[in-house]
Amino acid sequence: MVAVAPPTYTRSDWQAGYRSFHNEGTYWIDSIQGSLPTDLRGTLFRNGPGKLDVNGQRYGHPFDGDGLITAISFLEGRVHVTHRYVQTPELQAEQKAGRILYRGVFGTQKPGGWWANCFDLKFKNPANTNVIYHGGKLLALWEAAPPYRLDPSSLKTLGIETFAGALDQHEPFTAHPRIDPSNGDLISFGVRSGLNTTLSFFRITSAGAFVEKTEHEIPGFAFLHDFVWTPHYRIFFQNPISFNPIPFALGFQTAGACLKMDPQAPTRIWIFGASGEPTILETDPGFVFHFVNGFELTNPDRIVIDLISYGEYPALDDGTDYLQVNFDQVPPGQLMRFELDLAQKTVQRRQCLDRSVEFPAIHPRTVGHQHRYLYLGTIHDPNGNAPLQALIKLDTETGQQSIWSFAPTGFIGEPVLVPRPGGLAEDEGWLISIVFDAAQQRSVVMILDAQDLEAGPIAQVPLRDIIPYGLHGSFTPEIFITDPA
Ligand code: CO
Repeated sequence: MVAVAPPTYTRSDWQAGYRSFHNEGTYWIDSIQGSLPTDLRGTLFRNGPGKLDVNGQRYGHPFDGDGLITAISFLEGRVHVTHRYVQTPELQAEQKAGRILYRGVFGTQKPGGWWANCFDLKFKNPANTNVIYHGGKLLALWEAAPPYRLDPSSLKTLGIETFAGALDQHEPFTAHPRIDPSNGDLISFGVRSGLNTTLSFFRITSAGAFVEKTEHEIPGFAFLHDFVWTPHYRIFFQNPISFNPIPFALGFQTAGACLKMDPQAPTRIWIFGASGEPTILETDPGFVFHFVNGFELTNPDRIVIDLISYGEYPALDDGTDYLQVNFDQVPPGQLMRFELDLAQKTVQRRQCLDRSVEFPAIHPRTVGHQHRYLYLGTIHDPNGNAPLQALIKLDTETGQQSIWSFAPTGFIGEPVLVPRPGGLAEDEGWLISIVFDAAQQRSVVMILDAQDLEAGPIAQVPLRDIIPYGLHGSFTPEIFITDPA
């Protein structure tokens, strides 16, 4: 008989992090526990679905919830917080009507017509997936539409950002662009997918100039949430996903309703160079939302990619409440290292960690270049699946792991690695995550020393409210607050 470990959390604690947020506003925090590093200066922007219902009518999937931006400003050992919704016309119309008016992409079932419609703006653009400050603009991102531009100080919504008409009003723009550490350029893409897929590549300089837009066709449907950028390549994993009208996708670690993986078909890896035809390699099927990073070995024909792969696409029976998900049946996220050889046309892959992980982070200067350390959200137990309650650091040279867990009552959000100003070592800085603590019934900004995760948080910044489980965000050394203490 196999002993079953007791759960590291209670379902009601976990569920409490999925409550609609209603307290937009701005405030200083006066009760920081521990010591906030005085050289931690800048703004952490976070995005995620904040409104999960309209007048008690719940969205079918949290990914359909309206984007709530949180700005956490660190300056001189103090912390200032602003929360504001992205004021999309859809949010405003639903608030006015007092009921749900739009079908969300993730909670939608439209048998037969889904693919034709899934990137159509008849669906709601919740602007809820990521938020970045680049080229003097704060941009809320959602992958099937252009960004929304926000005022970085007030978080007021300024409107759809087309980069002076470079994007059309409905043009997809990924929530996972990368910043080239050599020059600050934003490397981005957009996907229009149906029976076939059109990929658009964009590049925006650090000064905000939109300087590149090219289009590339790939056959078949492709769900491309994220990509790999290296100095010579843009790389996409076309997982063998097909349309299945029955299941409802579910869960914090999954995206997209109605997706089904064909376990017999290969994953196609598309490697686009600066010019010429892309190279296509094939590997075993798997489903990837997020890439950690990719880099070229000395010979640029060989590329290493770290990513998080799912053995199958996680789905729930139609109509199942996402708050009742059975984590034992959700496939775990596996950290994998791929090595591509473009000359030999080979792919090697190996699993790097046993435990279930999501939300990768690295030092921003290693984007597209060899990283030694990576950071992830993970579950408390070394195996099985559960909500993310811990943060893990992996040294890819030695294999050494270090972990800090917030179980039983803490549930983590995506960690962000904030480099220490003037720091030299790749892990010199702080790992910051917004953690929902059910014991306190509030969210807490947790700041850990990236060189010593196992010491636990060096500072805990309690927020006034519960920030519903978020998606992605980013840090900028800039400060935008205008209201004095
Ligand atoms: Co994502």
